[in-house]
Amino acid sequence: MVPTTSYASSILRHGSPRRIGLRRRLLRGLLICMVAWTVLEVLYIHRLVSTADIVDARPAPQSERLFIASMHWNNEAILRSHWNDAVIELAKVFGPDNVFVSVFESGSWDDTKGALRELDASLDRLGVRRNITLSDTTHQDEISAPPGEGWIDTARHQKELRRISYLARLRNWTLRPLEDLSRQGITFDKVLFLNDVVFTVDDVISLLGTNGGTYAAACSLDFSNPPLYYDTFALRDASGDEHAMQTWPYFRSATSRHALYAMSPVPVKSCWNGMVAMPIDPFVSTPPLRFRAISDSLAQSHLEGSECCLIHADNPLSQAMGVYLNPRVRVGYNPAAYAAVHPTGAWLSLQHVTLALWENRLRRWMTTPSLKQLVVRRRISRWQDDHAGEEEPGEFCLINEMQVLADNGWAHV
Ligand SMILES: *[C@@H]1O[C@H](CO)[C@@H](O)[C@H](O)[C@H]1NC(C)=O
Ligand SMILES: *[C@@H]1O[C@H](CO)[C@@H](O)[C@H](O)[C@H]1NC(C)=O
Repeated sequence: MVPTTSYASSILRHGSPRRIGLRRRLLRGLLICMVAWTVLEVLYIHRLVSTADIVDARPAPQSERLFIASMHWNNEAILRSHWNDAVIELAKVFGPDNVFVSVFESGSWDDTKGALRELDASLDRLGVRRNITLSDTTHQDEISAPPGEGWIDTARHQKELRRISYLARLRNWTLRPLEDLSRQGITFDKVLFLNDVVFTVDDVISLLGTNGGTYAAACSLDFSNPPLYYDTFALRDASGDEHAMQTWPYFRSATSRHALYAMSPVPVKSCWNGMVAMPIDPFVSTPPLRFRAISDSLAQSHLEGSECCLIHADNPLSQAMGVYLNPRVRVGYNPAAYAAVHPTGAWLSLQHVTLALWENRLRRWMTTPSLKQLVVRRRISRWQDDHAGEEEPGEFCLINEMQVLADNGWAHV
């Protein structure tokens, strides 16, 4: 009989039947413990997550004064279907006197300008102050301009315009009205940065109330193609690390993960996922906090960092007040993505939670960010050797990439 033979040979190889029995019992015990632990952990976390909406049910609107900043490029569809209406609703709920809407659009191919003109007219009827700038400058115009600051030598033997320098300049534009307004004595409590996302007024109210309203920055979580979150370039966990995985529970840092499990504001070093609220003070101080890119000479060593991450590195409030990602506020770059992550119970099924907890654990055990970090650190050191006195406080933002603007978008080079 085959089983007997293999039993006998296994005794020969591994010792007495008694020790085998012990080992088996130990193994079985361990397995049972692991399964029990997983079941309890999953049930507990799933309960926390699926009851989060109930706890959070419709917070009272606050009467904060908001400076709303946003930039657009080829966003006609979402503007017409959701965004414009949401901004108008926001102005109504917060009060037309309590908001300023700053929009910068340039060079869209679709009728983004037409959609924004409609927004302009609607805000005018409501009596909302605003600055909606529609520029005809296209990407092609930008990359045909004479090189200057923000341009680098690429491997294609050309001088090309860096995507981040360009984006930082545009985002800066949306903040320009602040200077005039502040001279006129018009003040705000928060800046609300809005991407081209589907969002509701309740989402904004929840976002503003993140961590009891105390933060250097509070971000939503953004989805374009769920269950993957979208903006990986600007999200860094509490230890400054990139995500361990692009689906829930995302993070490597235990601090960030545990907050996420409880659906509490997640401490992070940087985030920029769809909507971001920040206290206005740093933006109207001297010198004012603004968007920037890393220096061209550092970018030349094939490093890049998002302007939306660097701003947290530069913000003097980040250390003391904290940057938080609010998992209760989830927005989408299209209606289907928004629907897929609402309500919270539907966002994370029991099965998803079970598999994801183990996937995250295995990824943390089997991968390390230190190799990537070493590359970044070395390049910064070498750069500092050649550029005495220069510093880059946003080291945690940097990745091994070079990004340039292209006529139809942008490119890795
Ligand atoms: C951003 O704005 C500040 C102040 O307005 C300006 O000094 C800086 O050059 C701008 N940066 C970019 C990248 O445009
Ligand atoms: C909008 O802001 C820009 C920059 O501050 C300014 O040049 C422009 O005149 C403003 N437009 C309106 C309509 O206020």
